[in-house]
Amino acid sequence: MKKSLLLAAAFGVIAAGTALAQNSTTGSFNADAGAGIVGSKHDLSIATGIGALYGQTDQLDRICIYCHAPHHAINEADAAGIKYLPLWNHGVTTQFYNTYQSDFGDGPAASGLNGVGTVSNINQFADRHLFNGDATLGEPGSVSRLCLSCHDGTVAINEYGFDPGRAESRGAATHFIADQFKIGGGGNLTNHHPIGFSYLDVALHDDEIAAPDTVINGLATKEQTTIRSLLYAGEMMECVTCHDVHNTKNEGETFLWKSDRNSGFCLTCHIK
Ligand code: HEC
Ligand code: HEC
Ligand code: HEC
Ligand code: HEC
Repeated sequence: MKKSLLLAAAFGVIAAGTALAQNSTTGSFNADAGAGIVGSKHDLSIATGIGALYGQTDQLDRICIYCHAPHHAINEADAAGIKYLPLWNHGVTTQFYNTYQSDFGDGPAASGLNGVGTVSNINQFADRHLFNGDATLGEPGSVSRLCLSCHDGTVAINEYGFDPGRAESRGAATHFIADQFKIGGGGNLTNHHPIGFSYLDVALHDDEIAAPDTVINGLATKEQTTIRSLLYAGEMMECVTCHDVHNTKNEGETFLWKSDRNSGFCLTCHIK
């Protein structure tokens, strides 16, 4: 209750700030689910999006450019180990994360930068849950690291464009993600739904996790019809398993593939 009031208040401030900064009638930047990227929270242009909030100055007022470029994109994995770079044009995070652990156990504390360590099985559901010693949860996969490159708050939203010869080149880190959209700040993903693991492995193990080929009600007319179709590389649970970054084929709020009304999205995977 308290949290939602705070969030509502925060959204109010953002909306008011946008209206002032923008002085236009383009609305609340909350495009309908599945209505496309224009006018959504991922429209970072000035004319139709939230660009003014994040210091956008692109003369052509483009939309894709913050994340992708047709030329001169980043084309090789850097120290952060990001391998999936779809013509990526945004600065990438080099942060390591402490990841979710179901059970802190009495074994040695999580070791190493990424928090992967040996944890003993004292959890009630140790036989069911994969993260209780049987397996370790790795760093978020590269596709999630693309999201975290804006959302963890270490790389500015307007840090994009890396060809020094071009007028639109950036690199200046000046506008960071607003607090209420920050995920993984300070490298902390321990309080975040687990990502970066094989859903297929878990489904074999946990009888309260739906089979990968379960059809998702409500998405039947879309390409994304089964849980498997939402898994990165057909296997991994990542940010994009729950969110559709371009707001194109999702039916739920906040870019969710399916609305979480009555927790309908959670119940797709969790048989509870
Ligand atoms: C806020 C960042 C962001 C913006 C803006 C953005 N994308 Fe993406 N795009 C991503 C991410 C992250 C991925 C990788 C995740 C995925 O494949 O779903 C991706 C993947 C893609 C892919 C490959 C996978 C697919 O969906 O076919 C294409 C093509 C693409 N984007 C095109 C575009 C175009 C065109 C625009 C502008 C109209 C755009 N994107 C705007 C972040 C963005
Ligand atoms: C180029 C920077 C950038 C990248 C990359 C990016 N985002 Fe965002 N995202 C933003 C900004 C900016 C906002 C809106 C913040 C605001 O309104 O102040 C946002 C908002 C969101 C929201 C809230 C939507 C709503 O309607 O409230 C979700 C969910 C989200 N992003 C998920 C993702 C996921 C998942 C990925 C990766 C697949 C991703 N983002 C990649 C910049 C980015
Ligand atoms: C298990 C599904 C799931 C995964 C995985 C997931 N999210 Fe979300 N996300 C949600 C749901 C549900 C909401 C809306 C509920 C809420 O606002 O608390 C949400 C809300 C958000 C928001 C809006 C602000 C907020 O905190 O509510 C952002 C930004 C976001 N997610 C980004 C991400 C990023 C980045 C990742 C990967 C690191 C990610 N999400 C992974 C389910 C997920
Ligand atoms: C796309 C499928 C999917 C969706 C959607 C999803 N989850 Fe999960 N969730 C999983 C999987 C798989 C695990 C790992 C379960 C295991 O370890 O056995 C998990 C783990 C969890 C855990 C940790 C369990 C543990 O072992 O400590 C909780 C709690 C949880 N999810 C709650 C939620 C909630 C709440 C939502 C809705 C906002 C949600 N999940 C949405 C697939 C999903």
